[in-house]
Amino acid sequence: MITIEKIEQMQAHIMAERQKGKTVGFVPTMGYLHEGHVALLKRARQENDIVVLSIFVNPLQFGPNEDFDRYPRDFERDYTIAKQAGVDIIFYPSVHEMYPHEPSVTVRVHKRIDVLCGKSRPGHFDGVATVVTKLFHIVMPHRAYFGMKDAQQVAVIDGLIRDFHFPIELIAVPTVREEDGLAKSSRNVYLSDRERQEASALYAALQKGKATIEAGERDVGTVRKAIIDYIEQHTSGVVDYVEIYSYPELKPLETLQGKIILALAVRFTNARLIDNIVMNVQ
Ligand code: PAJ
Repeated sequence: MITIEKIEQMQAHIMAERQKGKTVGFVPTMGYLHEGHVALLKRARQENDIVVLSIFVNPLQFGPNEDFDRYPRDFERDYTIAKQAGVDIIFYPSVHEMYPHEPSVTVRVHKRIDVLCGKSRPGHFDGVATVVTKLFHIVMPHRAYFGMKDAQQVAVIDGLIRDFHFPIELIAVPTVREEDGLAKSSRNVYLSDRERQEASALYAALQKGKATIEAGERDVGTVRKAIIDYIEQHTSGVVDYVEIYSYPELKPLETLQGKIILALAVRFTNARLIDNIVMNVQ
């Protein structure tokens, strides 16, 4: 496994591999790797000759009052995990390497951002789409792997790939969870012991919503209320949103039908956690 910090070097390396006929799988991350990231890496390992992992905490996707400065970072630890997962190349650029000057061009996302995290984090998905566009041009992968933990991100990247004609296959990987159901996240380290215990209620609340639908409920408001009530009864967190939309379009629903997403964001003292489930309703 090698670590590359420079864009030009990364491009030269990958072009040489592609010329040899090698397929390239790419897993973009912000590091502080956990089993969710590892699931993406393992899938990429199975399906490609070369696996590239990028580790870059992208300032462009953090709002002014968000956690860019205190986002957890530990390259040594990430290196060990990446090696075990069979990564070939870690692309690990500095902020200056990625943004040497104020950007003259950025990518703006128009669809699917008036809801969920797009609504509560203005500009976030523009930052994600901009850095992913840059990373796609740097890593030039055949396949890119994203986690369904961030289902809205998957939908936005799907739009990016189609609209900008990237010859890249998007692979969406199911959410990896702790034993009690909490979705693995680099931000879980911000939870106090008590909040960590309570946080399993987020997935339980989504399951409760799903069960309500499976029992025949088709009214969006009733299901949302069931989920919100469960969170409020079982955690000290503050609900940022609990929403239900069509997936991947992320359009509001009159009645629950077809492929839908139940999604939530809840604020704890030092962490805002998100989770979702996607289900088919007859
Ligand atoms: P990051 O939060 O580090 O996540 C990197 C990838 O890991 C994303 O595709 C995310 O959906 C996936 N992931 C995180 N937790 C997961 C879990 N529990 N199960 C499955 N997959 C999981 O998402 C980003 O970074 C950034 O926005 C990025 C795409 C790198 C652009 O900066």
